[in-house]
Amino acid sequence: MKFFVDTADTDAIRELNELGMVDGVTTNPSLIMKSGRDIKEVTKEICDMIPGPVSAETVATDADGMIAEGLELKKIADNIAIKVPLTWAGLKACKALTDQGHMVNVTLCFSPNQALLAAKAGATFISPFVGRLDDINLDGMDLIADIREIYDNYGFETQILAASIRSANHMTKAAKIGADVATAPPDVIRKMAAHPLTDKGLDAFLKDWASTGQKIL
Ligand code: G3P
Repeated sequence: MKFFVDTADTDAIRELNELGMVDGVTTNPSLIMKSGRDIKEVTKEICDMIPGPVSAETVATDADGMIAEGLELKKIADNIAIKVPLTWAGLKACKALTDQGHMVNVTLCFSPNQALLAAKAGATFISPFVGRLDDINLDGMDLIADIREIYDNYGFETQILAASIRSANHMTKAAKIGADVATAPPDVIRKMAAHPLTDKGLDAFLKDWASTGQKIL
């Protein structure tokens, strides 16, 4: 499973990238707001650092507006994936932009039918929002599994990008189901390394080692 980082925090992206954990980056208007930076400036900095796809989101609500904004965002760098919402207008924009050879990430997906339409419109990525379905007492992972089954039934090449990932457990489940990509906030990726038995075991080893009085260096 590829790891995308869901943030516009360039320091956090840099740290994870140095560990080889970053196959791409996703941003959205809320994450740009959180960064406090200009969208073009911060997106350029991310694209210079990460060769993989960097999603930048349009904010127009009509297809022509999304296409125009998408083409403007695409000027930032070749590795931009243009993000459009899963509305009828978004599907039109997706088809037009993919026909022109651009990567398109269709976001705000909450149902298998929406994912099927995005694949038919040629989306490079479909972004089902796991955490926001969990928030309304549904199981977001069921959506990932349904989309996986549908895409595999027909050989759709659209990549399933599990989004709105909120926990390390979400990452495990997305990987088991076979999501192509998961995009997670930096903290979630860091938490994947944590295990209480690792901490307990290390503590015991260090105590025993200290009692030997030995040194390696
Ligand atoms: O990738 C989409 C993501 O940013 C949404 O996450 O936690 O705001 O639902 P969240």
